[in-house]
Amino acid sequence: MKNNIEKACFLKLTQRIVSWYDLYRRNLPWRETQDPYKIWISEIILQQTRVDQGLSYYYNFIKRFPTVKELYRADNDEVLLYWKGLGYYSRALNLHKAAYQIVEEFNGKFPKSFSALQQMKGVGKYTAAAIASICFGEAVPAIDGNFYRVFSRIFADEFDVSSTKAYPYFYQLILPLVDKDRPGDFNQAIMDIGSQLCKPKNPDCEHCPAKQECRARNLNQVEMFPVKKKKQKVEILNLQYYFIKYKNDFLIQQRDENFIWKKLYEFPTLIPDDWKEYVSLEKKVQHKLTHRTLNITFSRIDVQHENIFEDLSSQYSYIKVNLIQAQRKTFPKPLESIIQEWG
Ligand code: ADE
Repeated sequence: MKNNIEKACFLKLTQRIVSWYDLYRRNLPWRETQDPYKIWISEIILQQTRVDQGLSYYYNFIKRFPTVKELYRADNDEVLLYWKGLGYYSRALNLHKAAYQIVEEFNGKFPKSFSALQQMKGVGKYTAAAIASICFGEAVPAIDGNFYRVFSRIFADEFDVSSTKAYPYFYQLILPLVDKDRPGDFNQAIMDIGSQLCKPKNPDCEHCPAKQECRARNLNQVEMFPVKKKKQKVEILNLQYYFIKYKNDFLIQQRDENFIWKKLYEFPTLIPDDWKEYVSLEKKVQHKLTHRTLNITFSRIDVQHENIFEDLSSQYSYIKVNLIQAQRKTFPKPLESIIQEWG
């Protein structure tokens, strides 16, 4: 902190941010509890999912797995089922692994500090800071993309937020601003300001509690921040799936723990060469993930004889399911759509 005047300005900004939160915060179910288990589940859901989409998943998940013990006791497929449709399923597998860590390695005790929380599988600095501040009153900033946007605008700070040094830089910059008495409310205020007001395009500066201090606004340059120099590299992958159907049944297999879509179910990727002439329908779909674009070809084969279907299934150890059985399993999103269409 450079001098006392700057310190006083910061204090005012902090106060304005939490007072704004008191008046305008969104009423969300995880804001009515300080149970670290529930906060953890909500933060993992909200990592890659919008609040409106995540709400029903939060309710269903907490109802079925109300404590870490129930989550620990569940089997993998059931945990994935409660994530069905949300995407980024490694989040659910990591939740399950972390529940195992808590019960087996941490004597059933939920970690209670910013640093200890980061030992949990799938919990990085952002999630650890959110839980530590909301549940345990630890004054650490929960820094994610929203956070970078809000504060690089307030300070008209040109630091490159795509650089690996952005985290320590913003951590030091914002640490003095975090409300020491209400760090959880401060962090959640920034989440709300980032998603409701300080949006990437057409931000609503008029209603922002930081509008007086916001240097980017005063310079009329709000949309020039945050500065991102590196373009995210996207890998392109081509996938081929065979949707092999006999009467109401089709064939699936479970993916292993390597690479994308760990432990999810998928259609066969291998068939005998001479089967390829029986493809009756083909559909090409593009599916975008954060770091990858998948170009997927689905080829449909309708088998006419049960024994041929059974032979293929046993030769490659495929699993035979009908629509009802498939509903109990979790498939990647683009495969889920094919089941709706062809299943
Ligand atoms: N996004 C991530 N965490 C959130 C929270 N606690 N409230 C609202 N939006 C969020």
